[in-house]
Amino acid sequence: MASRRTQLVASACALVVLLLLVVLGGAVAQAPAGTRKVSPPRRMLSTNTNVPAESVHSYGATAAFQQTSSSVHRKLAAASSKVPKQPKNAPESVVFDVGSFGAVGDGRSDDTKAFQNAWAKACSSPKPAALLVPAGKKFLVKEIVFAGPCKSQVTFKHDGTVVAPKDKADWSKPQGYPHWIHFRNIDSLTVTGKGTLDGNGKVWWKNSCRVNKKLPCTHAPTTLIFSSCKHLKVENIKLINSPQFHLWIESSHDVTLSRLTIASPGNSPGTDGIHVANSEDVRIIKAYIKSGDDCISVETGTKNLYATKIECGPGHGISIGSLGDDNSKAQVSNITIDNAHLTGTMFGARIKSWQGGSGYAKDIKFLNLVMDNVKNPIIIDQNYCTMADPAHPKPCKEQKSAVQFSNILFKNIKGTSATKDAIKLHCSKAFPCRDVVLQDIDLKVKGGGEKNAATSTCENAMLSKSSNVSPSPCTSAVTKDDKDDLIPQDYE
Ligand SMILES: *[C@@H]1O[C@H](CO)[C@@H](O)[C@H](O)[C@H]1NC(C)=O
Repeated sequence: MASRRTQLVASACALVVLLLLVVLGGAVAQAPAGTRKVSPPRRMLSTNTNVPAESVHSYGATAAFQQTSSSVHRKLAAASSKVPKQPKNAPESVVFDVGSFGAVGDGRSDDTKAFQNAWAKACSSPKPAALLVPAGKKFLVKEIVFAGPCKSQVTFKHDGTVVAPKDKADWSKPQGYPHWIHFRNIDSLTVTGKGTLDGNGKVWWKNSCRVNKKLPCTHAPTTLIFSSCKHLKVENIKLINSPQFHLWIESSHDVTLSRLTIASPGNSPGTDGIHVANSEDVRIIKAYIKSGDDCISVETGTKNLYATKIECGPGHGISIGSLGDDNSKAQVSNITIDNAHLTGTMFGARIKSWQGGSGYAKDIKFLNLVMDNVKNPIIIDQNYCTMADPAHPKPCKEQKSAVQFSNILFKNIKGTSATKDAIKLHCSKAFPCRDVVLQDIDLKVKGGGEKNAATSTCENAMLSKSSNVSPSPCTSAVTKDDKDDLIPQDYE
């Protein structure tokens, strides 16, 4: 028995060896021949047939550089299965002009479908691609989603004007937060150009509960939202007349916003300039913002944000929060606002939370700010309450929990206040603000003499240090007015 089994095993082994030899031999014989017909990858076929508008362009690179950069780029692309990182000068890209997809650009014809089709081509291009919105035309586009993932880097080259429908009937029924232009789930997207996005917000402003108190509160569309994007750049474009927020960065990572212009009237309700939530590593470099609400609002889930060279006003200033609404948990850390000029705004450097939340906002710096006729230049408000938020139609109640604010620096802040309330640090009784530092601050009431001097009021604020601060911190009594914080402020 034993010897029979050994025999069987031995012959089985021989069979396996034989099979292996046959397979290997076949492969060796095939490899150098190159005579077999190789079919091209399916991907190439599908993008190269029937492309109505393919041309090769490059932006801002010399011909010589283009050659090297694109060959280097091809090597990089071949070496890596991931989306390649963009070299310093933009590489050659395949351009898909919305005009070639049937967009009319007369401001009246509905060009939504053409934009969708151009995006589908750009996003599925195996080479870096650009969707071009050409200059000199005005495209009417309805609610639209530009979804990824894309096969390569995509540039949205926006040189024309894109306008939202002005009739409310052209929008879907608002529920939750509606959006006009939504970029979702894209790696290495660049939106650039000298173009404008005009949200046509008038009809929304007029029907806002903040303007017409008889109407129920609902949210109006955000002009431009990016969600779940990484390695995102948005530069140069102009956003105007948004129904609600202009630009919203949501659940994104490694984001650079530069040289943006945002403009809506000072009395347009809820028209925040740049709203950042649940995002990490965000840089805002040079922004000119006129709006009817916060120029910049930093919401929960935001970590490592740096903003510099910001012009703000009119508007409600630069704000962290509001945090902790509906007893929610806030997580905000490492936020720096460095070098901003605020003109005629309702607030300046502001941190706000509702009562009843939990979590934290920590490691926050406001540096090098110039205030020009700002109503409350420096303000921490842990009793924030507004009924204009659809989710909060009722006055707020005093609660026992709060978002913990800590390690907050206000440094080198100068200029004028439109009211006496130059510095207000109004923190939670349950969770006083910790490690607040005021340094090199000089705020005066605009046109105010001795009788109308700027004041500084504090409640539950633990100043760990203050030097060279005028008005002297925490020297004025908190007034009854200040105590009325829980009465909703409609326009904040
Ligand atoms: C804080 O954010 C900045 C970007 O503004 C970043 O350079 C820095 O590394 C971050 N610090 C920490 C401790 O994460």
